Amino acid sequence: MLTVNTIADLRRQVSQWRQAGERVALVPTMGNLHAGHLQLVDVAKQHATRVVVSIFVNPMQFSDASGGDFDSYPRTAEADRDALEKSGAELLFSPSVNEVYPAGFEHVTRVEVPAISDILCGIFRPGHFVGVATVVAKLFNMVQPDVAVFGEKDYQQLLVIRRLTAELCFPVEIIGVPTVREANGLAMSSRNQYLTAEEKQRAAVLYQALQDARQRLASGERDIAAIESAAEKTLEAAGFRPEYFTVRRASDLQLATTDDRNLVVLAAAWLGKARLIDNILLQLSL
Ligand code: PAJ
Repeated sequence: MLTVNTIADLRRQVSQWRQAGERVALVPTMGNLHAGHLQLVDVAKQHATRVVVSIFVNPMQFSDASGGDFDSYPRTAEADRDALEKSGAELLFSPSVNEVYPAGFEHVTRVEVPAISDILCGIFRPGHFVGVATVVAKLFNMVQPDVAVFGEKDYQQLLVIRRLTAELCFPVEIIGVPTVREANGLAMSSRNQYLTAEEKQRAAVLYQALQDARQRLASGERDIAAIESAAEKTLEAAGFRPEYFTVRRASDLQLATTDDRNLVVLAAAWLGKARLIDNILLQLSL
């Protein structure tokens, strides 16, 4: 696997591949790779002949009060490189902050995806999705992939990226990959290491609450407010500090109506020092 740190080196390699008729996939990450990220690489290999993985801890998406953990975000460059060597990715793009934001990021040209960025996580992390959308657009222009792969774990992020890709006419196919979980159901995340061993066990309650809500909806219950408040109580009883637990329309995260069939139950909650997010998709039968 080749590692490059500059846009010029990246472009040199990728344009060689493209001239040879290869199909290029991009898997954007912030590093500290776990089995969830490696699953994205696996899926990327099914859709392309060359896989580029980017590792870039993007300061612009941390520049808000609640998620301000840019400095403490886990950085594990060597272990990440080892894992990627084994994963079959061909190229690691690992640029510096200066390479991506040579003029800083405060006054940089930005990409804003309105409405969907302002709800749910967007309320608790103002500015977060502008940072995500801007860096993803930059990465698409740097790598010029045919396909890009993202996790459903960050469901709102996936929808933001689908919209920016469609509306800015990027010729990139977006693939979403189901969430990879620990044995107890906890969604894998770099932030799980902020949990103690005991909290990691307790964190499974978040997925159980999502499954429980899905079950209630699937069995015909339509009192969404009751489902949401029961889940919040369950989380609080297990020591979580919930930010939201909500049933939404899967296509655009608007409030679900009784006519909607494709739903997503989403939650964000603090446990100890970690802010956990998770979601579960469900399709109601007619
Ligand atoms: P990061 O949190 O490193 O996640 C990189 C990708 O891995 C995202 O698409 C995320 O949804 C996916 N992912 C994380 N945990 C997963 C899991 N348990 N199962 C499946 N996929 C999982 O998300 C980001 O980085 C950044 O916001 C980024 C898109 C790279 C822009 O900076």
